[in-house]
Parts: sequence; C-alpha cells; structure tokens
Amino acid sequence: MKTKYPIGILGATGMVGQRFIQLLENHPWFEVAWLAASDRSSGKPYGEAARWRLDTPLPERIARIVIAPADPEGAPRIIFAALDAAIARELEPRFAAAGCAVVSNSSAYRMAANVPLVIPEINADHLHLIEEQPSRRDSGGYMVTNPNCSTIGLVMALKPIEERFGIEQIFVTTMQAVSGAGYPGVPSMDILGNVVPYIGSEEEKMEAETLKLLGRLEGHAVTPLAARISAHCNRVAVEDGHTESVSIKLGNKLGRPATREEILGAWAEFRPLAGQGLPTAPDQPVEWAPQSDRPQPRLDRNRGNGMAVTVGRLRPCGVLDWKFTVLSHNTIRGAAGAAILNAELLASLGKLEPGRVPSGCGDRSSSVGWQPTAASA
Ligand SMILES: NC(=O)c1ccc[n+]([C@@H]2O[C@H](COP(=O)([O-])OP(=O)(O)OC[C@H]3O[C@@H](n4cnc5c(N)ncnc54)[C@H](OP(=O)(O)O)[C@@H]3O)[C@@H](O)[C@H]2O)c1
Repeated sequence: MKTKYPIGILGATGMVGQRFIQLLENHPWFEVAWLAASDRSSGKPYGEAARWRLDTPLPERIARIVIAPADPEGAPRIIFAALDAAIARELEPRFAAAGCAVVSNSSAYRMAANVPLVIPEINADHLHLIEEQPSRRDSGGYMVTNPNCSTIGLVMALKPIEERFGIEQIFVTTMQAVSGAGYPGVPSMDILGNVVPYIGSEEEKMEAETLKLLGRLEGHAVTPLAARISAHCNRVAVEDGHTESVSIKLGNKLGRPATREEILGAWAEFRPLAGQGLPTAPDQPVEWAPQSDRPQPRLDRNRGNGMAVTVGRLRPCGVLDWKFTVLSHNTIRGAAGAAILNAELLASLGKLEPGRVPSGCGDRSSSVGWQPTAASA
C-alpha cells in the first residue's frame, strides 16, 4: 500500500477513543486524520482535552490535533465511533447519511435488522447487510458494528464448537473489568474490595448479540442461532480483561457426544482469517491455556497483542455438557481492536472506496492522499 486511508475518531478522548489512537499508531493501512468529541473538548488540542490513561506515550502528532466538532462536515470518509449509545443513536446515522463508513463500538444499532454486527473470524458474510441501508444507496455511507466487550470473548470461544458440534444451551457468568465502564467509570469506593452484581443492560446485550453473531444470514436478514442463553454479568476490581465462566449443552451434529480432545481440536484449528493478510488479525484467535489456574486477566489479556481470546479449564459440567473459562481484553479485542479489524476486513473487500459524496464526509480525503484501490491490494 502506497498511502494510508485517512480515518477519523468520534469520541476520541474516551477510553475506547484512546485505544483507537494507541492501536492505530503505525498501522499500515490507516492514519488518524481527524478527532472529534463533545463540545467540552472541541476547539482544544487533543493533548489538552484528553486525560491520557494508557501506558504508552500519547503520540506528539496526535496531541497537537485540534479536536473538531462532532459533525460530518470536513470529516474523513472512514469513522471509528466510540460514543455512548444515546449520542451514537443520533450522530452515527448523520455520518452514514453524509457518506461515511461508520465503524461503531456502540450498542445503539447492533441489533438493527439492516446493520451488520460483525466479528471477522465469526460472521464476515453478515457485512452484506450494509447493502440494505438506505444511506448506502443515497450517499455510499453505512454503519457496521462490533459487539459488546463481554460478548466477543464468549462468541470467539463458542463459534468453533458451534460449527463442529452445534450448541443448544449457553450459561455464562462474567467478571468484567472496570475499564469497561469508560473513564472515570465505577467510583473507587464502590469497586475496591468489592463485586457489583449488576451492569445496566449488559445481560440483555450479551444474550441477544451472541445469538445474532452465531446466526445465519438468510436473504436480507440474520436468523439468530436457535439456542437458549442465560448471562449473569458482574463488575469486579480488575483494570482490564473480562473473564467468563461458561457452561454449554452441545447439539448433535456428530451424532454422538463430542470428546474433550475434539473440543480442544476445534479451538486449535480455528483460523478462519489465515492467509487473508489483515494486519491486526491474530494468528491463533482462540488460544488454549493448559495450566489449571488460567486464564487470568493480568497474565493472559495481551495474548495476540490483545486480539486473541484465551480459553482454559475445559471439563465436564454436571448440569450441561461442558464448562470452561474464557478471557478477552475488553478495550482491545472487545472494543477498538475489534473495530479496526472490521475496518481491515471492509478494506480487503473493497468496501472503503469513496461513495457518491458531494460534500461532508470524505472532503478531507483528497488532502491526505486518498487512494481508493490501495487497500484491496
Ligand atoms: N470501555 C470498554 O471496554 C468498551 C467496550 C466495548 C464498547 N464500548 C462502548 O464504546 C463507547 C465508548 O465507551 P468509552 O468507554 O470510551 O466511553 P467514555 O470513556 O465515557 O468516552 C466517551 C466519549 O464520547 C464523547 N462524547 C460525549 N458526549 C458527546 C457528544 N455529545 N458529542 C460527541 N462526543 C461526545 C466524549 O468526549 P468528551 O471527553 O469531550 O466528553 C468521549 O470522547 C460506548 O458506547 C461503550 O459502551 C466500551
């Protein structure tokens, strides 16, 4: 690739926005060209407006970028969005209508029938739903979403099992990191030395999103997986990394019960993006931890640069068939990294080419070397 796609970040000052900036520094295909946040931040240099919370230095070039108003006028065509759902509900369609490819982290449109909810390793074919969006026809713009941070680890672990054996029932209990609530998030007085057994709407999101992701694209819509699912979601005093205890009842695709070795084999051989050249796709998306006390957030969350999920403790379940533990990094694989991988997939499919955009999104692209065909190379 000769030049990079210029990209913008909506909600650039937040927890997920900061991860976007960190993960996109030196990205081979994308370059940060535009940052936007609320009225509190717009007009200020990023280094002044954002409270940088990550353990790598804020890049100097980024610190100097003046934060733009959250308006499509003058924004690049590709927008990574990291907004609260209520704000995303209003802003994301405006950017799509103006011709932007909006790659969103928010829950606002994940369950909309014509909006793809995508994990590239799981259901890349669901991206066809962008063709069902009115803005795609009118301006070329569209919305694509990635799942909730607790859903993604679960689904990555379930997909290889579902493919080979089928799944009929899923029971999951989460132990979710505080960074999942954004910054400043849960007050320290509420979470230190404590567990909070409630995260607003999280259980409903996990249950619905899991079945959509594992569902089948049929014609113009996704038919969710016909499985029963129950989620218990808890906030725990961990900085980064969501841990989940999972029990499953398998289907009967084999015509006999699956063995432990067969389930381990399904995880080990699950490499659906191998050879596709997406820069941030992990070589081994589902890593097995053989130790009896793993995975653990502090030790395992950064596997595959934070893009792999780790499974461990596979054993028979006394109620359903099998139980195991899964861990994923909530702001990398569960948020910014997921959106970046979605954008890489869109680029590789030629879906980031400029649309029919007379004004608004995409204006900036000419000034930073837009080359529509470069990414599919
Ligand atoms: N944290 C995670 O692990 C995680 C994982 C998956 C998905 N998500 C989702 O990602 C989204 C962002 O989460 P977060 O944790 O990054 O939240 P956050 O830390 O609270 O950041 C919110 C961002 O939105 C901006 N914003 C607020 N009001 C705005 C407005 N009216 N117009 C434009 N921008 C506005 C804020 O800008 P100011 O600084 O100017 O206020 C900030 O940049 C949420 O939908 C969340 O559910 C988060």
